[in-house]
Amino acid sequence: MSQELYPVNPAQAGPNTITPEKYQQMYEESVKDPNAFWGKVAKRLQWFKEPTVIKDTSFDPNNFHTRWFADGEINVSVNCLDRHLETRGDKVAILWEPDDPNTPAQKITYRQLYERVCKLGNALRKLGVGKGDRVTVYLPMVPDAAVALLACARIGAIHNVVFGGFSPGSVADRVRDSNAKVVITADEGLRAGRKVPLKANVDAALKSEGTDTVTSVIVLKHTGGAVEMTAGRDVWLHDVTANEPAQCEPERMQAEDPLFILYTSGSTGKPKGVVHSTAGYLVHASFSHETVFDLREDDIYWCTADVGWVTGHSYIVYGPLANGATSVMFEGVPSYPDASRFWQVVDKHQVTIFYTAPTAIRALMRDGDEWVKKTSRTSLRVLGSVGEPINPEAWRWYHEVVGGGKLPIVDTWWQTETGGFMITPLPGAIALKPGSATKPFFGVQPALVDAEGKFIEGEGEGNLVIVDSWPGQARTVFGDHQRFIDTYFKAYPGMYFTGDGCRRDADGYYWITGRVDDVINVSGHRIGTAELESALVLHEKVAEAAAVGYPHDLKGQGIYVYVTLVAGLEGSDELKKELIAHVRKVIGPIATPDHLQWAPALPKTRSGKIMRRILRKIAENAPDQLGDTSTLADPAVVDTLVVERLNT
Ligand code: WT7
Repeated sequence: MSQELYPVNPAQAGPNTITPEKYQQMYEESVKDPNAFWGKVAKRLQWFKEPTVIKDTSFDPNNFHTRWFADGEINVSVNCLDRHLETRGDKVAILWEPDDPNTPAQKITYRQLYERVCKLGNALRKLGVGKGDRVTVYLPMVPDAAVALLACARIGAIHNVVFGGFSPGSVADRVRDSNAKVVITADEGLRAGRKVPLKANVDAALKSEGTDTVTSVIVLKHTGGAVEMTAGRDVWLHDVTANEPAQCEPERMQAEDPLFILYTSGSTGKPKGVVHSTAGYLVHASFSHETVFDLREDDIYWCTADVGWVTGHSYIVYGPLANGATSVMFEGVPSYPDASRFWQVVDKHQVTIFYTAPTAIRALMRDGDEWVKKTSRTSLRVLGSVGEPINPEAWRWYHEVVGGGKLPIVDTWWQTETGGFMITPLPGAIALKPGSATKPFFGVQPALVDAEGKFIEGEGEGNLVIVDSWPGQARTVFGDHQRFIDTYFKAYPGMYFTGDGCRRDADGYYWITGRVDDVINVSGHRIGTAELESALVLHEKVAEAAAVGYPHDLKGQGIYVYVTLVAGLEGSDELKKELIAHVRKVIGPIATPDHLQWAPALPKTRSGKIMRRILRKIAENAPDQLGDTSTLADPAVVDTLVVERLNT
């Protein structure tokens, strides 16, 4: 691993930049006296009632609870909108860059955003949505996505955003599990010039059993494409908001009331509805957004994520808007119309902070430096990375070619469940090492444990746990608190288990090594092996399937599936294509297997457990590293698979 060090450049500091000394001092206070620390930080928000109780948490299995600012009362949309009207009413809140560079960009001021949110909040109330009701949001990357989230927050409804790349089946699962009352969608999405039939997908989803809790579907006219409108259920967004007043009484929320649900994949079963709180979440999202990007009043901040993922929630919508920042929202993709698009947009809008994912960096790096070099990028001040470990080669390219060798890169490690940044540099405080997420954020106490749960001190490698609660942490799994406990607090009782492996070097820097559970990280998105397998076995010709991740040049990890066909059937290239298309249809395009191998049988232990470790090594084409195969029920199975693999 790389030991190069990129020191902090004090010349880049602004008036509020956190210096190395200040970081040390703040970090120490944050873990030694969390009540004092977070009590002060919480004052950055506007409360109906300020909290007097700050941290009221315990990871102890006999006394488990995670309450922050518990007696406080607050509304998230007031903090993201109303609070800014006096001083920043005419400041651009959302700067929208459409898919097609020839379509004009849109600048929505804080006042305009406030009015749109209020109108939709009122419309939702008229449709019978109130505090605690669930609203599914299935929208493209357009300003109305932020409007929808904030409108829910305004009236205390719990939003559940479903990424536009998910299939009707995945939409149905989420609607059903969350008992959604309303779905907010658009006629169509647009990505790289291609249309995504969002409304038609919702129509298909709502034909599934168990989705009849939905009484209204609100449809944004975006592309103008033809859609079917079901009478009595479907309404146009512009119709329901047209006559609503531009004020809307915000719901007084308890600090611990849920703000949103976001489904994410784990090692077993269906995706879990991770539930985030109102106050603790917003404190963490806004404070981390300000300090980690060293935010300044005139910044143009651009996070390229989709609002369908937690990154979009915390660092396109809630963090930036709570901070009164200008947040760029991009509908398109980095490669459309060509590989220069990101940098064209940076120049066009004079972006100062740019936050993206390693998978995008690697793809652009492959396309060559010219696409970058023909742009100026002089507005940039801070770069960021998120989603998976960034390989040092990509880090250096990002630093040298994109940032001209001058800009700090904040490699932010966190998860859907953590709500906000957990291990990350602060640009003015922490010297960088390419590939390391560096040091813990305020209030975060990471530790490494071995398989038995024993702490690894100093330099070493193990499983990454967090030993105490932090304000932005997820509070539960929607409708299944036991699953929350079992998933995150059982492997190492008394600690939150991240599911990641990690190394700590002699300087105390953390290096995330990737998932240690059965989760595949494809281009920074989590796909559960269990989901892939159950999608495959839904197909009538599939008897059994196993999915593993394998190293992939662009995606970080690719999806490799082994399929055992129903007895008597022969595999063919055509059937391979059919099964790959089938998975795509069941889960969505992001789950498309990269490789499918026929398996006459799968390697299993004598108790019938699939030995994924072995399947991973075969997929990696490393048959010499299979390790101990003595516990296999039938070792010959492995030989067959290895020979097959070598022949592909
Ligand atoms: C998993 C969480 C958090 C927003 C995006 C993904 C991996 C995320 C990093 C990073 C190394 C990272 C981890 C983590 N991951 N950021 N900077 N360095 N790994 O959210 O879908 O909840 O995935 O993504 O494996 O557990 P998510």
